[in-house]
Amino acid sequence: MALAGASTLPLASLARGGRLRDHMLIAQPSRLGLLGDDYPATDVWAFNNMVPGPVLRANQGDTLRIRFRNRLASLSTIHWHGIRLPNAMDGVPGITQAPVKPGEDFVYEFALPDAGTYWYHPHVATYEQIGRGLYGVIQVEERQPPDVDDDVTWVLSDVMLTKDASIAPNFKSLHDAAHAGRLGNIVLVNGQRGPAMLDVRAGQRIRLRLLNAASARLFRIKIHGHQPLVVAHDGHPCTPYRLTESFYFSPGNRMDLILDCTGAPNAQFEIEDEFFPAMRNKVGLIRYSSRAAVGARKPFGELPPNTLFEPVLAGAESVKMVLEGGALSNKATREAIWLMNGKGNDHGSHMDVHGKHPDPLFTFEQGCTVRCLIDNKTAWFHPMHFHGIVFRERLPNGQWGPFKDSTLVWPFKTQEIAFVAESPGDWMIHCHVAEHQHSGLMGTFRVASLCRTPAAPKT
Ligand code: C2O
Ligand code: CU
Ligand code: CU
Repeated sequence: MALAGASTLPLASLARGGRLRDHMLIAQPSRLGLLGDDYPATDVWAFNNMVPGPVLRANQGDTLRIRFRNRLASLSTIHWHGIRLPNAMDGVPGITQAPVKPGEDFVYEFALPDAGTYWYHPHVATYEQIGRGLYGVIQVEERQPPDVDDDVTWVLSDVMLTKDASIAPNFKSLHDAAHAGRLGNIVLVNGQRGPAMLDVRAGQRIRLRLLNAASARLFRIKIHGHQPLVVAHDGHPCTPYRLTESFYFSPGNRMDLILDCTGAPNAQFEIEDEFFPAMRNKVGLIRYSSRAAVGARKPFGELPPNTLFEPVLAGAESVKMVLEGGALSNKATREAIWLMNGKGNDHGSHMDVHGKHPDPLFTFEQGCTVRCLIDNKTAWFHPMHFHGIVFRERLPNGQWGPFKDSTLVWPFKTQEIAFVAESPGDWMIHCHVAEHQHSGLMGTFRVASLCRTPAAPKT
């Protein structure tokens, strides 16, 4: 497959020349209608009184400066999921910063080296803070954006509502933590009960950005009547490929699709979640207007690549990460339900049971390529997310797939990834099923600075 462009430049210089974009994100309790007019509104926690929070838009190379104002009654932080940034801006409590106390502010500032679809969410008690509505999209425009008729973002999520439409408060269910996580009973698209409407005209070309912001739900999306092109995973452009069947879409992941509207005027096509084939959720509806088709377009090329560090497999360091525990296992310890390499770290605090920083699971020299084999010895799937790097995942055919920041590891299967240890600091590795993350499946890796920039990647 095509490899991303090479660079020996440190990240900061990639961003030179961009604009500074100031934003304020206020996390606070709010009351919003999630189910439409026939139901009462729901008490949520929201950024700027919106679920999802505001889309933070910028151009590649710009710098974001975000004043985070915590008006919750709980500690919080914001993590900028998928963005390659300095460790101190990563939003991990107790590791990269002190948690932000109720009533306090914290200013994040970082450059945006990569174009694409990213997102933000708290990193304190994530299962609850995401589960109550704190998440939003960061959309970084390419220097030359592709020519499309519409650019639509769908944030998929779910919520567990009681019959008066309030959020069920039992976020610390041991059962959820030991099984598949907390699965909601209502699927949300952009904070509203699905199906969401995608209004199109025959012949149009739509860019559809998808994010799975659910704390636990693995979607299996089927787009009827169309074969969209996947042009990016987790923000980063890939060699485009066509979706001919349903695809799994796990928490944390993003996908950018190019959807050519090949249907006829007045046609309608469903977008379904068929994870449970006997109980399909209508996620969306592609709704064609009655207007005559616009002229056909040339085949789509690809998005301009981001400048990423290409893993150099010769001489790479190999490590293994064994996941154990959960329901049906016999592995839980006094400390955790789930274990990574025999240890289970929590927690709301990101500390171990003794209230100390856990030691990193691995230490790598900056610039070295790492191959990590994730061995899932549990009966549950785990979308494993790494902060501070992007990796290629090994495909079933043995080839190395597109760059991603979270990889889905199936029960009793292994998944290998390869990446360049990019910038110094302690970075999180965790399952993005938030209930797993906070009951053991969370650790760190350390990138030790060598006072040199990573080796020139090969193309
Ligand atoms: Cu979106 Cu540490 O995660
Ligand atoms: Cu992240
Ligand atoms: Cu998990």
